[in-house]
Amino acid sequence: MYTRLKPLLFKSDPERIHEHAMHMLSWAAEHPGALRLLGAVCTVRDPRLTTHAFGLTFPNPVGLAAGFDKNAVAVPTWAALGFGFVEVGSVTAHAQPGNPKPRLFRLPEDEAIINRLGFNNEGVEAVAARLSALRETGQVRVPLGVNIGKSKVTPLKNAPQDYLVSLRRLWPHADYFVINVSSPNTPGLRALQERGRLQELLSAVAEFAAYQPPKPVLLKVAPDLSDAALAEVAELAVTHKLAGLVATNTTVSREGLKTSLNETGGLSGRPLRARSLGVLHFLTGLGTGLPIVSVGGIATSDDVFERLCAGACLVQLYTSLVYEGPLLIKKLNGGLLERLERDGLSLQNLTAVR
Ligand SMILES: Cc1cc2nc3c(=O)[nH]c(=O)nc-3n(C[C@H](O)[C@H](O)[C@H](O)COP(=O)(O)O)c2cc1C
Repeated sequence: MYTRLKPLLFKSDPERIHEHAMHMLSWAAEHPGALRLLGAVCTVRDPRLTTHAFGLTFPNPVGLAAGFDKNAVAVPTWAALGFGFVEVGSVTAHAQPGNPKPRLFRLPEDEAIINRLGFNNEGVEAVAARLSALRETGQVRVPLGVNIGKSKVTPLKNAPQDYLVSLRRLWPHADYFVINVSSPNTPGLRALQERGRLQELLSAVAEFAAYQPPKPVLLKVAPDLSDAALAEVAELAVTHKLAGLVATNTTVSREGLKTSLNETGGLSGRPLRARSLGVLHFLTGLGTGLPIVSVGGIATSDDVFERLCAGACLVQLYTSLVYEGPLLIKKLNGGLLERLERDGLSLQNLTAVR
């Protein structure tokens, strides 16, 4: 069905199609009958897929990456589509429109996307109100993460306070948090990955978290960091008792692209696959024991299996959903189960094949 629809969809502006898709997904979120139908068609329920990470239990290890549902308008629908967890955002303390359009580009030949959306979102107040209502009505059925970015109007030196505004407001409503310092589309943001600035930010977060009911806080890193910089980030994450790392965000590299498209922004999808896997190998090789959520170019159940074998505790995806359509999650989880069966493995002992 999606294969037939895709050529038509791909003739229209990517951001308009995204808005239409979000409209349908949020409509479904408010219609229990639609959710039941989607759940029956799309969800693979099997206890062998249950995954435990940073103190939470996930029905399966495949999650929706940040950026698709920035304003948390379709949380119940993502669960019905079979995702084992959902990360909404990036949310910023101030509502903001993002960069001028056009700012989203498909690269079909590469199964990739370039985006320079720039954290367009309704801001922390709107998202917190939405999540609070979902919680009150028992509509959060899989672990829910909130990814937090820095508001564009906030100068870099005030970044810690800006993140804290969002964390404070959202703390009761999410199961875990991700501090996003790795989007290429907010000027200066990635400089927060430098030792001094990161230390300041993570100290502020740790100090805040120490006085709250405990919740896992992770840090999302860029794929464009050198090994030395990645090692430094991991060390700081351990020192500040973060729950883990999300690796990786989109890349500013254009290496290996078939498409010649001269647009600035972050590249995601197939061309990011090797680098994202490389970062995962590097981070697990450090031996810190930090849980890693692996994201970047994951499109098949073999990709999922490979990331889990390489030491990821969970995986996420965004771009492959655009190229493969909503039945992808069922395919990934079904394929993962088949692979586990074939190799006589369980998710718990996957690490043994590393
Ligand atoms: C259109 C678009 C918007 C994104 N927005 C965000 C965002 O707001 N925050 C974030 O942390 N990552 C964002 N990402 C990055 C994804 O979460 C993910 O890290 C990246 O796309 C790599 O995964 P993929 O290859 O499966 O897409 C965005 C990605 C895309 C394609």
